[in-house]
Amino acid sequence: MPNNVIVLGTQWGDEGKGKVADLLTTEASCVVRSQGGNNAGHTLVAGDKKIVVRLVPSGILHPSCQCLIGSGVVVNPDALFGEIEELKAAGITDAEQRIKVSAGCALLLPIHPAIDKGAEKKRGRNAIGTTGRGIGPCYEDKVARRGVRVGDLAYPEILKEKLRSLMDYRNFLLRNFYDEPEVSFDEVYSHLIELAPRLLAMTADISAILADARAKQQKVLFEGAQGTFLDIDYGTYPFVTSSNTVAGGCCTGSGAGPLHMDYVLGIGKAYTTRVGGGPFPTELNDETGEHIRKAGQEFGAVTGRPRRTGWFDAVAMRRAVQINSLSGLALMKLDVLDGMQELKICTAYKLKDGTVTELPPLAAYEYADVEPVYETMPGWSESTFGVTDFAKLPVNAQNYIRRLEELSGVKVAILSTGPERSQTIFFENPFA
Ligand code: GDP
Ligand code: IMO
Ligand code: MG
Repeated sequence: MPNNVIVLGTQWGDEGKGKVADLLTTEASCVVRSQGGNNAGHTLVAGDKKIVVRLVPSGILHPSCQCLIGSGVVVNPDALFGEIEELKAAGITDAEQRIKVSAGCALLLPIHPAIDKGAEKKRGRNAIGTTGRGIGPCYEDKVARRGVRVGDLAYPEILKEKLRSLMDYRNFLLRNFYDEPEVSFDEVYSHLIELAPRLLAMTADISAILADARAKQQKVLFEGAQGTFLDIDYGTYPFVTSSNTVAGGCCTGSGAGPLHMDYVLGIGKAYTTRVGGGPFPTELNDETGEHIRKAGQEFGAVTGRPRRTGWFDAVAMRRAVQINSLSGLALMKLDVLDGMQELKICTAYKLKDGTVTELPPLAAYEYADVEPVYETMPGWSESTFGVTDFAKLPVNAQNYIRRLEELSGVKVAILSTGPERSQTIFFENPFA
């Protein structure tokens, strides 16, 4: 019986991971985040309640679910506490007791967003379009081995020394390289000391909790953030985020071994979106793109930025199937395509030198002048919104889904026809 299921994005983020993670949590004892930070925005809809979680794992609406934050996540304590207060206001009063944070998480400090913004300004027209939350600089400090971690809060003197050396270096850069105001060491240090007891009370050994859940044959959901093509190693570098968003990242970031994973569910929209800069071969800079943006309400859950929109890209999806070892796909937002006369699916890329490829290149510059090769299919005029029976979908919608499966090399396990939990068709339950 599959007990450990990974849910991750197969495109450029915002695929609907929150909806699926929330839905599958009915069966899970824990949901664990392994990477990213409050750059994520996962939307949960339960009846008339709509909640966007950023650092908090998407299991929080289920009272018996433990929400775990693994060592691979970068934690901004103020953002975490802010979210806990929002959850309280929405009636989820025990969130703080159910959230457990690894002592190994890198602390995202006020200096990180300052650097993030300075770096984006400096990049000028090559700006990445980050969320401005300081995610990249925080991971930089972690990898450079000068980061401060949640567990350091228990050792004020060690914290002081580490923080001093990190901030000396970062403030030097802020002042001399980015031409931005410095961040006060004293203020950051005293703020950390003030919040330390609250955050330390939430720490736990996440690997041990996961091992225990496994021993008890409880179900665990590993919730990815961002998406495959925002991965630091496999995405459209440098227009990526700073963590491993692919399936392998779920193991390193949570402290669970690869042999413990039973099912990898990729989440992908029936079309494609991207927010921020970088390559997007199937992008539609026309009325059709505008129509999809409106129909899909494609505006960022975190920053409110309009998302770029385009056709479904089977070339990219093939790569996502390969590097994540996808067991199945949750295909989201089919309803958004209702009423379109025809739909295009990208089956190959024609590169600048004329070669045709069925798998995407690696670096952003290799995407220059890529021409998508399309297959066109007829659309449907009927509404698919909220349909819960595959047989009741228009035949053209059924054919579209079947063709996406063939071209991508993965079966659709879950089909989503609306934001609500009930607006879902299950072909396969990853936990069953
Ligand atoms: P995530 O970051 O992957 O969790 O996705 P976001 O929450 O950022 O964006 C997905 C958006 O699509 C949210 O507003 C969801 O409520 C919404 N959504 C999810 N599934 C569907 C669907 O099948 N149809 C429609 N119309 N909206 C959906
Ligand atoms: P969820 O989990 C969509 C994008 C940013 C930018 C790039 C780098 O909701 O799918 P960062 O702030 O991480 O350094 O920005 O990555 N990005 C996302 N795009 N969904 C997300 O999260 C994203 N998190 C980061 O727009 O292009
Ligand atoms: Mg999102």
